[in-house]
Amino acid sequence: MTTSTILITGGTGRTGRRVADRVAGHNPRITSRSGPTPFDWDDPDTWDAALDGCSAAYLCYSPDLALPGVDDIIKRFVSRAGALGVDRLVLLSGRGEDGARACEDIVLAATPTATVVRCSWFQENFSEHFLRGSVLAGRIAVPAGDVREPFVSLDDVADIAALALTSGGYDGQVLELTGPQSITFTEAADQLSRAIDRPISYESVDGETFVLEQVAAGVHPDEAGALAWLFDEVLDGRNVATTSTIEQVLGRPARSFADYARSAAAAGAWS
Ligand SMILES: NC(=O)c1ccc[n+]([C@@H]2O[C@H](COP(=O)([O-])OP(=O)(O)OC[C@H]3O[C@@H](n4cnc5c(N)ncnc54)[C@H](OP(=O)(O)O)[C@@H]3O)[C@@H](O)[C@H]2O)c1
Repeated sequence: MTTSTILITGGTGRTGRRVADRVAGHNPRITSRSGPTPFDWDDPDTWDAALDGCSAAYLCYSPDLALPGVDDIIKRFVSRAGALGVDRLVLLSGRGEDGARACEDIVLAATPTATVVRCSWFQENFSEHFLRGSVLAGRIAVPAGDVREPFVSLDDVADIAALALTSGGYDGQVLELTGPQSITFTEAADQLSRAIDRPISYESVDGETFVLEQVAAGVHPDEAGALAWLFDEVLDGRNVATTSTIEQVLGRPARSFADYARSAAAAGAWS
């Protein structure tokens, strides 16, 4: 067993597979609930086999780090990781979320060599997640009013997570990642519309309407409810400010929403 193995939790998901690609030379152990090394956040009996022989781990909690009770799971997990000698942890977190902040504090206190990658909303929510169907239908309806959000590119997030996993340069740090501009959902819809060359509107709806529409579109009711809770929790203007962390760490600008929309359209994300 090599000691350079890097555990990638959520390894088949949107961030995990991007991080795994970037650490391909470091023997990534890609885990999810299925696959050769099954790993389940809700089943501690699966944790040791996933952690065994790893020197570092990317922690991508699913469904969402901010949900109540997740801090207890994270506390038990980092304690087990420490006991098994996994001393570099990179935690994917969300901006402005109290529950996520509690998890961050646990990880940083238990593991001085940990790094927190604290992100604004992902641009790819519009192409790889719950808003893809809305974009295809030409109507984005979410409970967000006119709030602005500095949507961040998952490729930027993964570049930074991979760097933190493979270098000691960010030990003990919280890297707060945003895109380069804060935009409203109306502006996001306009930019998507230009990129796809199809009309896309934005309508602010209440949480109940959002859940009903998401469920009708095929989203699991629990996930739709959790998303509505997150909109209510964080999209109140607290996360409007941008950071320059991506440019400082990577030496190049963070990807803009317009760039993301153009390249996702060119790659066939909404074909
Ligand atoms: N969306 C955003 O805008 C945003 C912003 C900031 C932070 N975040 C954070 O991003 C994280 C989600 O990351 P993501 O978008 O990369 O995830 P994702 O694409 O939804 O993928 C989830 C991954 O986790 C696995 N998984 C699901 N349930 C699991 C469980 N109980 N135990 C172990 N693995 C499980 C899935 O595979 P299987 O189903 O096969 O197990 C999959 O590999 C959340 O913690 C959230 O707080 C999201």
